[in-house]
Amino acid sequence: MKALVYGGPGQKAWTDVPDPTIQSPSDVIVKVDTTTICGTDLHILKGDVPAVAKGRILGHEGVGTITEVGASVTSLRVGDRVIISCIKSCGHCVNCKAGLYSHCLGEEGASGTGWVFGHLIDGTQAEFVRVPYAENSLYLLPEGVSDQQAVMLSDILPTGFEIGVQYGRVKPGDTVAVIGAGPVGLAAISTAGLYGAATVIAVDLDAHRLEKSREFGATDVVLSSDADWKEQVMLLTDGQGVDVAIEAVGIPETFTMCIDVVRPGGNVANVGVHGKAVQLHVEDLWIRNINISMGLVNTNTTPMLLKLVAQQKVPADSFATHHFTFDEFMEAYDTFARAAETKALKVVITA
Ligand SMILES: NC(=O)c1ccc[n+]([C@@H]2O[C@H](COP(=O)([O-])OP(=O)(O)OC[C@H]3O[C@@H](n4cnc5c(N)ncnc54)[C@H](O)[C@@H]3O)[C@@H](O)[C@H]2O)c1
Ligand SMILES: [Zn+2]
Ligand SMILES: [Zn+2]
Repeated sequence: MKALVYGGPGQKAWTDVPDPTIQSPSDVIVKVDTTTICGTDLHILKGDVPAVAKGRILGHEGVGTITEVGASVTSLRVGDRVIISCIKSCGHCVNCKAGLYSHCLGEEGASGTGWVFGHLIDGTQAEFVRVPYAENSLYLLPEGVSDQQAVMLSDILPTGFEIGVQYGRVKPGDTVAVIGAGPVGLAAISTAGLYGAATVIAVDLDAHRLEKSREFGATDVVLSSDADWKEQVMLLTDGQGVDVAIEAVGIPETFTMCIDVVRPGGNVANVGVHGKAVQLHVEDLWIRNINISMGLVNTNTTPMLLKLVAQQKVPADSFATHHFTFDEFMEAYDTFARAAETKALKVVITA
């Protein structure tokens, strides 16, 4: 088969590799029909994720059709259309039972690490992929949900919803600021309304992304390069600060921005993956009664989000800005890597 293979920092190729095979009775093989690229794949390609070995097939998002099932798999059949979740879940370890799939103790990839695809085991940017613990890590796709919609449920929609909206404890009437209107920030924006957020303020450096954020439910937008960006946010909250500030960039500056705009008693939900140390001034913050949360997506809300996508209550299609076929994989990467210029959000790549 063909797959997108990591060759060390700065190197990748769409090339021939052996087909995956069933390794364990709970595995299935999925023919990948649709996949996409995540910002994390770009981090890997820069060499920022040293755990990824040369020769690894990248990708942790995908939708496909089952072609083979392991001996112990009873609830999935050849021919089933499925969403491949970015997180493996064995379903029976203590963390899986608590819904904390991100820390699944199953041995596949590494015990205690839920994100294994395109990281510690071969991923979804390939014609076929082996899915471990398939009955828990795959979600059957109902009629009426397109591949393009479903692929947004592998990672970005659960991430924005679980780590942004749920961990941020958004409640009816809240004012929510989302710092960073990339795919993950937009996922938080598009799901904040599910818990009744009244005002959703998108904050970004990119005017195009801010404009786009209105399509996802942002009620107000603030350009963070404006000298008075903070005053603009404060004005939208009667000077009190936001109830929930969601960080969806992953740099110290934007975490601090969240701290700066949250009201006393509010919540800061960090979604961004940080590569640099972030200073937390507890000596100033303790008196403000704020809560800070963070985490890796569990994807335990995927079935619920899938229902809402099926009912057009979450605008999954709006994330897809560019379309490619598998033989245009390198072009797809190039377009996604130059997102500011190309205005790409998610590139949809089909077999
Ligand atoms: N916690 C998790 O489980 C999880 C899962 C997936 C992704 N993530 C992380 O979420 C973050 C967002 O992912 P993405 O794919 O949307 O990334 P992205 O790079 O596409 O989007 C980031 C956005 O932040 C904006 N930005 C950059 N600097 C800014 C600043 N100073 N002020 C305001 N906006 C600024 C950019 O213009 C861009 O629109 C990343 O750090 C990613 O690694 C976390
Ligand atoms: Zn991802
Ligand atoms: Zn588990």
